[in-house]
Amino acid sequence: MSKGKNLWGGRFTSGADPSFAEFNNSFRFDRRFFAADVRASVAHCKALVGAGVLNAEEAKKIETGLQSILEKGQTEAGYFAGLDSEDVHSFVEARLVEMIGDAGRKLHTGRSRNDQVATDLRLWLREAIDQLSSQLRSTQEALLDLAESKSDAVLPGYTHLQRAQPILFAHWCLAYFEMLGRDRERFEEIRKRVNVLPLGSAALAGSSFPIDREATARELGFESVSRNSMDAVSDRDFCVEFAAACALVMVHLSRFAEEVILYSTGEFGFFELSDAVATGSSLMPQKKNPDSMELVRGKAGRVFGHLVSLLTMLKGLPLAYNKDMQEDKEAVFDTFDTTHACLEVAALVLRNVKLNEARMLTAASQGLMNATELADYLVRKGTPFREAHETVGKVVMLAMAKGVEFAQLSLDELHSFSDKIENDVFDSLSLEKTLTTKSQTGGTAPQRVVEALAVARKSL
Ligand code: ARG
Repeated sequence: MSKGKNLWGGRFTSGADPSFAEFNNSFRFDRRFFAADVRASVAHCKALVGAGVLNAEEAKKIETGLQSILEKGQTEAGYFAGLDSEDVHSFVEARLVEMIGDAGRKLHTGRSRNDQVATDLRLWLREAIDQLSSQLRSTQEALLDLAESKSDAVLPGYTHLQRAQPILFAHWCLAYFEMLGRDRERFEEIRKRVNVLPLGSAALAGSSFPIDREATARELGFESVSRNSMDAVSDRDFCVEFAAACALVMVHLSRFAEEVILYSTGEFGFFELSDAVATGSSLMPQKKNPDSMELVRGKAGRVFGHLVSLLTMLKGLPLAYNKDMQEDKEAVFDTFDTTHACLEVAALVLRNVKLNEARMLTAASQGLMNATELADYLVRKGTPFREAHETVGKVVMLAMAKGVEFAQLSLDELHSFSDKIENDVFDSLSLEKTLTTKSQTGGTAPQRVVEALAVARKSL
């Protein structure tokens, strides 16, 4: 039988089977709520004073006791080890009763572990969200620093992973800057729905003691109090939203990782990862492997998995609290840990990556990537776009057959496809022109990119 005394002795004649106790307990992972649980208990103690349940002397004992439990938990190595508790809520209460006796037994008046766990989760998640938001911001900053320091660098832009049109490297960096900016916005929105106080809902029907929930909310920094006690103890929408927002962060980081991996291959050779974020091979001495980025790409799957497990865990639950919901914790914790670690590594990679700008320039200047420019040239000379597209397609065939770029064809050769082509075509086909013409808002023209970098900098 389980040694630890549980919270429901009266109705039971024997304890839980050890294997069931082990199965049922959540303390090994929900101890991460320790500080939040103590904090919420202090606030609840104040509410009980207001409600006339505790007198000032009892409250003083409880608060001092909780404070010293918090300190022990934060400073004494092994404070949690060997103490057999079902979960963090029972752990804190048991330590309090051990320490101060009877007054500690009154603290659970008008609350349930159901509203406690929802409160702890929200307090914990609020901080986790703030931490991820600030990491997103640093990663955006790393992108921006890199873009600004390499503002002249060019890259081939791809669609279908086939060379499409040249772009500025800074434009590529800013694409990821945008994605992470949306991720930050999402966290801000979710934070509002996380920041609601469930405490005072008790088990499901509300508390019968006149506690001032608004005051508790202010005490704990919550923006509002939950309006329905049944919803308050069974709502985990905010966990799903958090996992979904993290899943999108991971989609973005994973796409970034894939591009960095690709661009660091011998075949592309645009980037070289710093030794600080690469590994070697135990067998092949020449190798430098992008493990950092591969792990970021690979770990995306765990976060997607947590999102699906949360949705699945919730979908069939009757109101109000059900123990299934204990499964939310490990999903939320690992979602946070994984996203946190991947953001850290992505920023590190960005801060240390080396570019092979010469190779990027060569790649951006080859492969007939100015074909659209040639078609646009014909349009400016009065040819309908469809016809221009067809004509340039034929020029492409000739250039490919000869193994040359458009600019290496003679004016006569070009002229044979359209009498609208004149000597000024060569200027239009230059890499510089190809870039500067993309001058509408959001385009890769150097002037637009300079402006976009300034706007991005200001947004941080
Ligand atoms: N450990 C539980 C959880 O994580 C806390 C709430 C327990 N409530 C209950 N009625 N058994 O969900």
